[in-house]
Amino acid sequence: MSHADDHVGTRRDFLYYATAGAGTVAAGAAAWTLVNQMNPSADVQALASIQVDVSGVTPGTQITVLFLGKPVFIRRRTPEEIEAGRAVELNQLTDPTAQNPNLPGVQPAFDENRTLDEAGEWLVQIGVCTHLGCVPIGDGAGDFGGWFCPCHGSHYDTAGRIRRGPAPQNMHIPVASFLNETTIQLG
Ligand code: FES
Repeated sequence: MSHADDHVGTRRDFLYYATAGAGTVAAGAAAWTLVNQMNPSADVQALASIQVDVSGVTPGTQITVLFLGKPVFIRRRTPEEIEAGRAVELNQLTDPTAQNPNLPGVQPAFDENRTLDEAGEWLVQIGVCTHLGCVPIGDGAGDFGGWFCPCHGSHYDTAGRIRRGPAPQNMHIPVASFLNETTIQLG
């Protein structure tokens, strides 16, 4: 059983998970047809990025997709979640680094450096606890309104930053970008 299978999600979670999975397979097959055997590594490269339709994700909800064998949480935050995240000072954080490869170098873990858009609605992060790799529970879980890892009690805030418990780092952010208003590309 993978970590993704451990994730307890809503029916909506599952719907998007299944859709994204089908898209991944289709993308891989198309790439193979195009390149045939001229470049055997190309099909592998195609699998290194997927596109996710987020048009059905309303504020206060999230979906989970499987990317490179790991669950990725895509959450559309509420104004309250954004406000809570932005009110946190760096000296309150266990891990002061953004853990965001979409930014140059090592950046501070300000809320603004964790989200995909300037308004701070979209938080995309690898849903793996940085302690020993369990999949945290989301949707406002834990003492900081974000995610909670029940394995050993790690609490993450609304920006996915570790705030209490044994996890040493904020949840990592994958390479991600908006292709258009309703499509996020991972990888
Ligand atoms: S794996 Fe999450 S707290 Fe240990």
